[in-house]
Amino acid sequence: MRNPIRAAITGVAAYVPEYILSNAELEKMVDTTDEWIVSRTGIKERHILKGEGKGTSVMATKAVEELLAKTHTNPLDIDLIICATTTPDMQFPATANIVADKVGAKNAWGYDLNAACSGFLYALTTASKIIESGSANKVVVIGGDKMSSIIDYSDRSTCVIFGDGAGAVLLEPTQEDIGIIDTIMRSDGSGRIHLHQKAGGSAMPATHDTVTHKLHYVYQEGQAVFKFAVTNMADVAEQIVTRNQLTPETIAWLVPHQANKRIIDATARRIGIDDSKVMINIERYGNTTNGTIPICLWEWEKKLHKGDNIILAAFGGGFTWGAVYLKWAYNS
Ligand code: ACO
Repeated sequence: MRNPIRAAITGVAAYVPEYILSNAELEKMVDTTDEWIVSRTGIKERHILKGEGKGTSVMATKAVEELLAKTHTNPLDIDLIICATTTPDMQFPATANIVADKVGAKNAWGYDLNAACSGFLYALTTASKIIESGSANKVVVIGGDKMSSIIDYSDRSTCVIFGDGAGAVLLEPTQEDIGIIDTIMRSDGSGRIHLHQKAGGSAMPATHDTVTHKLHYVYQEGQAVFKFAVTNMADVAEQIVTRNQLTPETIAWLVPHQANKRIIDATARRIGIDDSKVMINIERYGNTTNGTIPICLWEWEKKLHKGDNIILAAFGGGFTWGAVYLKWAYNS
């Protein structure tokens, strides 16, 4: 018999910074073209957080403030904040703690979760289990990154891909037939050689040399990552669809991590749904890493109906990947 308590998303909000970095501007910075970027990735522009001393928490806080306002939630009632991020404000304390302080969530505990682009789904899975256990009633899950802080804007192979942004959802218990129904989370640490940040951790702390040799930026072997991503994201989406007896007709939406339009298309094809059911906004935001999925949910919120079957799928550094099946919990 299934656990009578499920975790349901009862609100979503997001924030992207004002400054827009277009492909035309990138053409002036590195040897690239709008045609190359659009045909290889689907990206036309991305948002960048400008300003001295501003980290991921700035965007996450704005997203959570909007979330609390629209769900009429008192910050003192929040039990837990999980912040999925690869670009925390600092190594410690956790960005979740900084956001909790900024929004006045004085009764919440919280922590950061790092699973690169799959982090939001890892955090959603973790949060849903905590709610199902009965030990929390209001959990905020944030996915956000200031990718511009770890991107080398003289490296054309990475600087065209990433953008900044954050989203947040509120999770609450429900006994109705809605909410998070199934999750499949996977990882393969051997993939770390293809996608990582070499310096700044305990294995290679920051030195003059690490800065000189640009070791604090994202290192990505694009083609190798592409091959793993395209196979694994589609595989895991297909697995969750099959084991829940879903069909293209009964799926309302696919919400894929926005890393590359070609990876998204391959995942949609594998589960047999057409473009009209796939949330795609990569052309305007690029890859915001942990931000992509909540930003999609936020943009599409008004089109979602209570009971809609939704599949979330992601792939990222680690390697990490996963899929979530949920039934949307409300009409806007
Ligand atoms: N403009 C013009 N040419 C470029 C650019 C650019 N911006 N970037 C690379 N090129 C060139 C390369 O130098 C190469 O030239 P060469 O053939 O003369 O050597 C050529 O284009 C082809 O390069 P590839 O890397 O093979 O290009 P590819 O088609 O694989 O596209 C991309 C690159 C977009 C990065 C793709 O591989 C991809 O999307 N990979 C997956 C990314 C991903 O999913 N990451 C996981 C999530 S991120 C995270 O977890 C933090």
